[in-house]
Order: sequence, then C-alpha cells, then structure tokens
Amino acid sequence: MAGYVVVGMQWGDEGKGKIIDVISKKADIITRFQGGNNAGHTVVVDGEKFILHLIPSGILNSPGKCLIGPGVVVDPKVLLHEIDILEKKGIDMSRLYISDRAHIIMPYHIEMDKIKEDRSGAKKIGTTRRGIGPCYRDKIDRIGIRAVDLLSDKVFREKLKSNLEEKNELFEKIYNVPKLDFNEIYSDYSEYTKLLKHRIVDTLPIIHDAINNNELVLFEGAQAAMLDINYGTYPYVTSSSPTTGGALTGTGISACAINKVIGVIKAYTTRVGEGPFPTELLDKTGDDLREIGGEYGATTGRPRRCGWFDGVVGRHAVLLSGISDIVLTKIDVLSGLDKIKIATHYEIDGKIYDYIPASIEQLERAKPVYIELDGWKEDITKIKEYDKLPENTKKYIKKLEEVMKSKISMVSVGPDREQNIFISEI
Ligand code: GDP
Ligand code: IMO
Ligand code: MG
Repeated sequence: MAGYVVVGMQWGDEGKGKIIDVISKKADIITRFQGGNNAGHTVVVDGEKFILHLIPSGILNSPGKCLIGPGVVVDPKVLLHEIDILEKKGIDMSRLYISDRAHIIMPYHIEMDKIKEDRSGAKKIGTTRRGIGPCYRDKIDRIGIRAVDLLSDKVFREKLKSNLEEKNELFEKIYNVPKLDFNEIYSDYSEYTKLLKHRIVDTLPIIHDAINNNELVLFEGAQAAMLDINYGTYPYVTSSSPTTGGALTGTGISACAINKVIGVIKAYTTRVGEGPFPTELLDKTGDDLREIGGEYGATTGRPRRCGWFDGVVGRHAVLLSGISDIVLTKIDVLSGLDKIKIATHYEIDGKIYDYIPASIEQLERAKPVYIELDGWKEDITKIKEYDKLPENTKKYIKKLEEVMKSKISMVSVGPDREQNIFISEI
C-alpha cells in the first residue's frame, strides 16, 4: 500500500501543481483534501499552461481517478467551468468524482467574504474572496450545505431557505447591503446539480479499496503550512489544514496509509495577501525575484510579496507534516545573484528564536538572522543531473538541507514537466 501526501511548506504557490503533475504519472488515484478554488496550481506541459483550482493537478498526467475529497469546499459554478476548459483541451473528465461529504460554496459565502474584507480596512486578511472562510465557518457551525444535500431537492430547498434567511438578515440589518434572491440561487444550483450529480459519490470506498489493493494514492495539498488554520500566521491564514493532518481528516484515511510526505518549497519565499513575512524584501532584489520568478497569483493575479528563503518556516513545515522528502523549486530564478541569503533564526526583542512564535505581534517584530552564500551566474534550466549543477548551487542546496534538517530529494529548475533533477527516488 502506498499513500503519498504532497504539501506546500511556505505560504503557498511553491509549485505544488507542477510537482504533483510529475509524481502523478505513477499514481492510481489523486485526491484533493482541503481548501477550494482559492488554490491556483499551474502545470506546464510542452509549453502549454494549465491552471487548476479545484480539480486535482494529477488529472493531466495520470489515467487514474481524480477525487475532490470530503475536506474540500466546492464552488459548483467554478468547477463546471474548469471541467469545461479541460474537456475542450481533450482531457478525459469521466474520472472526476466529488465527495458527497464536501461542503458547497454558496453565493452568500462569496458575498460575506467580500463584505468582511472590505469592512476590515487595514486589518483585512487579503483573502482570495472566493467564499472559502465563510463556507468553512458554516461547516463548523453545522449549518453547511454538503454535496449530498444537492441530490435531494427537498433537503436542498430547506437548507437553502434557512441559511438564506439568516444571511439576508445580516446583509440587510448589519451590513446594509441588498438581500440575495432565493429563487435565483435555487434555480442556478438546481442547474449545477443536474450537470454534476453523476460525479457526486461516497469517496471513502474508492480510497480505502485503492489503499487495500496496494495502489498508489496521491493526496494533493493546496495552500501551505504557514496558512494552516492551527499552525500558520493566524489570523492571516486560510480556513483549513493544508498539512498532513488535513490529508487524513480531509479524505477519511488512517495515518498508517501514508508512506511518504513530500514537502514542496521554493528556493526563496513568497506570500500573497496580508500578514507577517520576516524575510520580505521591499527593495530591488524583491522586485527582481517577482519579475524573474513570474510571481503573480495564479488565482487572483495579485503581485506576490517576495523575500529570502526562511529556514525557520522550512523547519516548522518539516515538523508539522512529518516531511520525508523535500522538493526544492524555482532555484533557477536565483541564477545571476552575487550573494544569496538564508534566514536561520529570528531575533525578537533581543531574543533568538529557532521556531515560529504563536504571537502574531511578536512575529511582526521578528528580524531575520541571515547567513550569506555566494551565488552563481550559469543558466541551470536545462540541467538534469545533480553533479552538473554549479558548485555554488550545490552548496546552497546543501545549506538548505542543513537548515531544515531534512533531505532534498528533487530540484525543479523550470516550470515544465521535464525540468527536474532527481537526487534520490521519490
Ligand atoms: P502552486 O500553487 O504551489 O501549485 O504554485 P503556482 O502554480 O501558484 O505557482 C508556481 C509558479 O511557478 C507557476 O507559474 C509554475 O509554472 C512556476 N514554476 C514551478 N516550478 C518552477 C521552477 O522550478 N522554476 C520556475 N522558473 N518556475 C516554476
Ligand atoms: P495555492 O494552493 C497562496 C491566501 C490568501 C490569503 C489567505 C486567506 O495556490 O498555493 P482565503 O481565500 O483562503 O480565505 O485567503 O490565504 N491563500 C493563498 N496564497 N496560494 C494559495 O493557494 C492560497 N490560498 C489562499 O491570499 O492571504
Ligand atoms: Mg498557487
């Protein structure tokens, strides 16, 4: 039996989509386990770019089943659009299933996300405005609408009615915005249900049978450790658990089903949205990283904040998810720099920290403690063997392993499926 979890180790956009695409070639089943269409996973195949938001990135390279797991929140309109795009590109979509336990993003969730962000001023989170937080809030509040509810007209009608009554009262009386119309939502969602109902299934037997039959199941994480609701830079986080724990609860499997945890980390750091970012570079180097690395959000198009590699973040992610193999991405973007910095610790109020403190106020005052390495000038985007990398690139990789106390098994040197260096087998 083999279960591989793939998770992001920073604040998202590490290149998970690309890495899942590469690894999924040998996978029998790929499943998303949390998040929703706040994710934007880019896969480049022979120069053609695909951006996946809800559908597992593995759909392009694996002939196996692709699941949207119970822990995911699903916007049916976005999903139908994504299915349509992939179908037009000739991808077989008959293999895509949605868990009947997944929660459904409703128009009032999206509206609420926008209102809350707009009203928060300087304290806004900088969400993707896709309704993710409000949908998870209803889930935890035990009033959410699940995919299974769409299958019964009576149940759906009742749940929509009671939810909308509550939300419309808030919209009108507290937020002073127009109410949403029941008939409009009911008719749109009835149409989505017609188009999606054959895909809504109990995903538990699919996963459990695959595990029992020794098939390879790939658990595709969205977002990343620092956006984790429990262990990230709260409240500047997303509303799910993008760590290994989330893969277990988000798909209904046992910890014993996991053989490998593959952590994807960028050779520098980016963040999109608000919140502390100790190694952020607000100078020309930061701008250069953004331009050379193409650091603009795959979902919202927002420019990503850029900075040096943060080893404290890396170690945090290794511990949180029990990472067995690290995939280092975008190291090609660093070519040409004279010097490259790595943060190994923080200094906060005169004290040295080798871990992420829980207090956001403390983290906002964190000054990174850096080590500096010599850079390299060579173009490394066509290199396929580790030994052919420039000496300083190898020294950088070794230092990252040392700082994170974990093994780097693969290095990605460009966006394409083929631009990889395997150091050890994954
Ligand atoms: P994800 O959300 O973790 O899947 O990452 P995104 O797709 O949002 O962002 C990663 C971006 O970097 C995408 O544009 C990828 O095509 C690109 N990318 C992935 N790996 C590499 C790499 O090794 N080098 C370069 N230059 N680009 C990469
Ligand atoms: P992938 O899977 C980067 C960020 C948002 C915001 C915070 C909360 O592509 O790595 P939300 O809409 O989830 O309530 O926003 O989380 N965020 C991401 N940042 N990559 C992502 O996904 C993200 N998904 C959410 O920018 O700061
Ligand atoms: Mg992304």
